[in-house]
Amino acid sequence: MTVRILGTGSALPQTTVTNDDLSKIMDTSDEWIRTRTGIGTRHLAKEETTASLSVEAACRALENSGVSAQELDFIIVGTVTGDNITPSCACTVQAALGADRAAAFDINAACSGFLFALHTAYAYIHAGIYRTGLIIGAEVLSRIMDWTDRSTCVLFGDGAGAAVVRADETGLLGFEQGSDGEKGVVLSCPGRPNNNPLVSNPTDLRFVHMDGQEVYKFAVTTVPASIARVLEKTKTAPQDVRWFVLHQANVRIIHSVEKRLKAGEEKFPVNLDHCANTSAASVPILLDEMNQKGMLSRGDKIVLSGFGAGLTWGTALLEW
Ligand code: COA
Repeated sequence: MTVRILGTGSALPQTTVTNDDLSKIMDTSDEWIRTRTGIGTRHLAKEETTASLSVEAACRALENSGVSAQELDFIIVGTVTGDNITPSCACTVQAALGADRAAAFDINAACSGFLFALHTAYAYIHAGIYRTGLIIGAEVLSRIMDWTDRSTCVLFGDGAGAAVVRADETGLLGFEQGSDGEKGVVLSCPGRPNNNPLVSNPTDLRFVHMDGQEVYKFAVTTVPASIARVLEKTKTAPQDVRWFVLHQANVRIIHSVEKRLKAGEEKFPVNLDHCANTSAASVPILLDEMNQKGMLSRGDKIVLSGFGAGLTWGTALLEW
C-alpha cells in the first residue's frame, strides 16, 4: 500500500511586489534579479499569516479531492515560519477546518518540508496506521528576512500549497530524503535571542543568513544525484518522467539539474517569475498550478524534489 495525491490547493497573499518595486527601497534592479534567479514578482503577506494561507490552500485541496475535513486522520505542515512556537500551524489549521479526528503537527525541513511531509504521510499510511491525510507546505518568509540584505531578501516570497493524500495501490513509487547538518551554517536563521536573565543576550540573530554560492553548489550537485538515485531505485528512465517539479529557488539551478538529467527542458515547469522562492510551499504551489491548468493526467510519472536549509533534500517519484 502506498500514498496517492487526491487533490491539491494553494494560496498566495494579495500583495505583489515586483523587482522594480524593490529597486525603489534598496540598491538592486530588475535586470540583476531576473538574470541571476528568474524571479520577477513575489507575493508578500500583509494581513495573511502562515496559518491563514495554509487554511485557504487546505480548503481548496479538500474541495479538489472531494474529501471532507472529518475524514482526515492527520495534518502535517512543513514550515519554518509558523505564526507561533506553539500551538503548531497544523493545530491551527485543524481547528479552522474542524478536522477533529486528525492528529496535527508541524515539521521543520525548510524548503524540503513538503517532501518530508509527503514521506511521513507515506510512512503512516504504508504502516497501516492512517488512511487519509492533509499535507501542507506554507511560509511567510518575509517576516524573517533581513530587508537590509539585498542578497537574500529579493529571493523569497510567501504562500502555501496543500495536498490531500490517501492510501492506494499506486501513487508514490519511490523516494529518498537526506540531511547534512555539518553544512547547516550556509543557510540559517538562529531565531529569538535568549530571554533567560542569567544569560547575556547575544547579538540579535532573528533573520535569515545565507552563503548563496555554497547553497548553489549544494543544490546543483545534490538535487540531480538524489533524483538519479530515485529513478534508478524505481527502474525509471528520465525520458519516462512527464514532469520534474523542482523546488523553485533559482532558474539557473533548475536548468543545471535539467542538463545533468538530459530529460528535456519542457519537462521542468517554472513559476519563479511570479512566486519567487516560497520555501516549503514552492513544490505544492507549482503542483497545484499545474493541476489547475490540466497539465497532470492519470498515470503520469512525476518527480518532486526539494532542497534547502538544514541542509536537507527530498525527492519523490509519483504516478499521478
Ligand atoms: N541586486 C544587485 N546586486 C546584488 C544583489 C542584488 N539583489 N545581491 C547581491 N548583489 C551583488 C553582490 O553584492 C556582488 O557585488 P560585488 O561583486 O560588487 O561584491 C554581486 O552582486 C555578485 O554577488 P554574488 O553573490 O557573487 O552573486 P551570485 O552570482 O552568486 O548570485 C545568488 C547570488 C544568491 C543569486 C546565487 O548565489 C544563488 O542563487 N544561490 C542559491 C541561493 C538559493 O537558492 N537559496 C535558497 C535555497 S532553498
